[in-house]
Amino acid sequence: MDAPVPHQSRVKSLDAPTSGRTAELRLRIARHDDLRRLQEIRSAAFAPVFASFRSILGDEIYDLAQRHEDEGQAALLESLLAAAFVWTLYVAQLGSEMVGFVAVRLDRQTHVGEIGLNAVDPQWQGQGIGTAMYRFGMEQMKQSGMRVATVATGGDPSHGAARRAYRRAGFDVEIPSVCMCSTL
Ligand SMILES: CC(C)(COP(=O)(O)OP(=O)(O)OC[C@H]1O[C@@H](n2cnc3c(N)ncnc32)[C@H](O)[C@@H]1OP(=O)(O)O)[C@@H](O)C(=O)NCCC(=O)NCCS
Repeated sequence: MDAPVPHQSRVKSLDAPTSGRTAELRLRIARHDDLRRLQEIRSAAFAPVFASFRSILGDEIYDLAQRHEDEGQAALLESLLAAAFVWTLYVAQLGSEMVGFVAVRLDRQTHVGEIGLNAVDPQWQGQGIGTAMYRFGMEQMKQSGMRVATVATGGDPSHGAARRAYRRAGFDVEIPSVCMCSTL
């Protein structure tokens, strides 16, 4: 499957920071031979997020309570690709270049769709690709009969771009939650 993003989601400014190339964003289902590039994108995009967690929690709590989960993210991404019957992993592509990915889950019993792990290559961030990926995911949900879209994200500064892009894509009600830690 190789689907153009819905019209309203087309990225307006697609000049690559380095090449000046202009192309149209397309979303397609990820293949196993994409994994290496998707891991590169994931690792680069989440480095500031993990650094933010470490800075907020401090080294001791981070190493004990958070590091394991962060280090497990590579395996999580691989498992999303493997569990194609639960999650569909889409690659966002400009021309031949993979610039991001987004996981989407459809629950046909509850009619609730979910946006899962996602990232945009830092070189391409801030140009509307994340928002377009989320709109695409929500459009897939609508077309599959989902009645509600959900996503969970962080409340810390490193998730500021994610929160902004989710809101721009249409997520318009939220329940804030807080993760609290203490050394014992
Ligand atoms: C979240 C992410 C996928 C968004 O991708 P993107 O292509 O940059 O998204 P967009 O360009 O569509 O939108 C980003 C918005 O956040 C804004 N933004 C960027 N940094 C920000 C910050 N620190 N605080 C608040 N807003 C910020 C941008 O200006 C843009 O808003 P605007 O278009 O109104 O100006 C990307 O930032 C990323 O990969 N982040 C790390 C991984 C991550 O957080 N994934 C989601 C986990 S729930």
